[in-house]
Amino acid sequence: MLRSTAAAAAAAILQSMPRAYTKRSSPAARAIVPVLLLGAALATLLGAPRSAPAQEEAFTESVVIFNTVCAKCHEAQCSGRLSFDSRYESAVRHIVRHYGPADGKAWLQKELFAILDYMKRHCAYYPMDVPLPPKRAWGPEMLQRFGTLLEHDYFIPLGPMEAGAYRLELQLAEATRVTVQLVDASFEMVVDECRMPDGTGLTLPFRLEQAGELYFRLYTDRPVALTRLAVEGPS
Ligand code: HEC
Repeated sequence: MLRSTAAAAAAAILQSMPRAYTKRSSPAARAIVPVLLLGAALATLLGAPRSAPAQEEAFTESVVIFNTVCAKCHEAQCSGRLSFDSRYESAVRHIVRHYGPADGKAWLQKELFAILDYMKRHCAYYPMDVPLPPKRAWGPEMLQRFGTLLEHDYFIPLGPMEAGAYRLELQLAEATRVTVQLVDASFEMVVDECRMPDGTGLTLPFRLEQAGELYFRLYTDRPVALTRLAVEGPS
């Protein structure tokens, strides 16, 4: 399907949706189209390059929230599917209960809903269209978009990795206890360590038995920013 056809389909659905979903026009307008496309023409959306950077940004934020906050209960849920039916209203209350800042943000609620739907259908993390930094080293500015604003919990795709021995290094703005997780694309936990860093830095050697996509997740005990992340290897 051509992008224009997909956009027309999305526009048609948009018109047929209850007003409550559409009235917050500015943030919703930014984000509503990819959500609708996801429902209406998922394959098309995934096959086509994203057009507006603003849409990407919005989805990155939601994916990070989902994979830190919601993942505590919904990680690796690979069965059933969701639909925009009457259950959506109660799901919204549930979403806001678990993530207060989503209150009143229809675009965010819809994206979080769509991300769980994607996980259930595809048994996979929602794809994030984000570039990998050179040498797999992330600085403070890049890291900001992968963290939740309040808790400073992080979810970062590390990209495709070869099997082998690696070293993960992270730097925090202040010393605090952290839980570091590395999860592969089929939700297998490669690393799950709770550590008190030595000062503000932490080095964690790990071994990847199988090549594949890897994801980094960090829970901080109190809201402390991650200022550097680097993955060295394989050796
Ligand atoms: C403390 C655990 C917990 C957390 C955290 C949590 N949920 Fe849930 N959620 C559940 C349970 C339990 C159900 C009902 C059983 C089910 O459908 O999995 C549920 C149901 C749902 C449903 C409806 C599923 C369906 O099939 O109808 C949606 C949508 C949902 N959650 C989204 C979220 C989102 C988005 C977040 C993050 C903001 C979140 N949940 C955080 C436990 C949790």
